[in-house]
Amino acid sequence: MTTLLHIDSSARASRPETDARGSHTRRLSERFISRWREAVPDDAVIYRDVALNPPTPVTGDWIAGAFTAPQERSAEMSAVLEESDLLVGELTWADVLVIGAPMYNFGVPSTLKAWVDNIVRVGLTFGFDRSRKGDPYWPMLEPGKHLVILTSRGDYGYGPEGRLEHMNHVDKALATALTYIGVTEITTIAVEYDEFSDTRVEDSLSDALAEIDALVESMTGGSGTASDDRRQTVQVG
Ligand SMILES: Cc1cc2nc3c(=O)[nH]c(=O)nc-3n(C[C@H](O)[C@H](O)[C@H](O)COP(=O)(O)O)c2cc1C
Repeated sequence: MTTLLHIDSSARASRPETDARGSHTRRLSERFISRWREAVPDDAVIYRDVALNPPTPVTGDWIAGAFTAPQERSAEMSAVLEESDLLVGELTWADVLVIGAPMYNFGVPSTLKAWVDNIVRVGLTFGFDRSRKGDPYWPMLEPGKHLVILTSRGDYGYGPEGRLEHMNHVDKALATALTYIGVTEITTIAVEYDEFSDTRVEDSLSDALAEIDALVESMTGGSGTASDDRRQTVQVG
């Protein structure tokens, strides 16, 4: 059985089907999960809405606890890390991570960054040993996890070789942090032109939905492949 971790982070709580100002990333992630459920009804889905329930940002007490060996932590330190432990647990269980990630000021929403900060944990998701030969840091997640980034931006040209690729700090930030801890495959599907409110955003959205359908089909054992393959899949390591 496959376990999916579904994360939404758009501050827009509603979807474009019911609200002209609704969230594209919520619509994309919902499409991914509903297609997956149709294909494999028994797979497990863990859902987390970090916009609605933002993870606590990292604090000085959090850092002190996280960088103290588990057997030496005080009860207070362990208590501060409880939320992070829970988020790491969800990530550890999951085989497929489906993250709805809007672009806010060229990066991810602060709530999603808070999630990332809570799951990159020394001794749990990455190892560190100053005396280790070669790289003193190493990933600790089980290999084989696939990250699916479902993103949306108001402007256009943030994809590979696009005019604004150098300003896209959404895909790179998520890919960097998650491969650092051991994610081994990443696929990105994007909607663009949200701020243009014309047929370009509609076309971009319907292309993204078709890409999602093809991706789910290929990941669940169907034969589908994307027609024009706008999606980017990167095998890491
Ligand atoms: C606070 C905020 C910051 C934004 N920053 C950018 C940006 O830097 N570049 C861009 O192209 N669009 C930007 N946008 C537009 C969003 O990326 C776009 O509306 C996207 O569809 C949001 O995702 P959602 O539809 O899931 O809510 C921003 C929107 C908001 C609300």
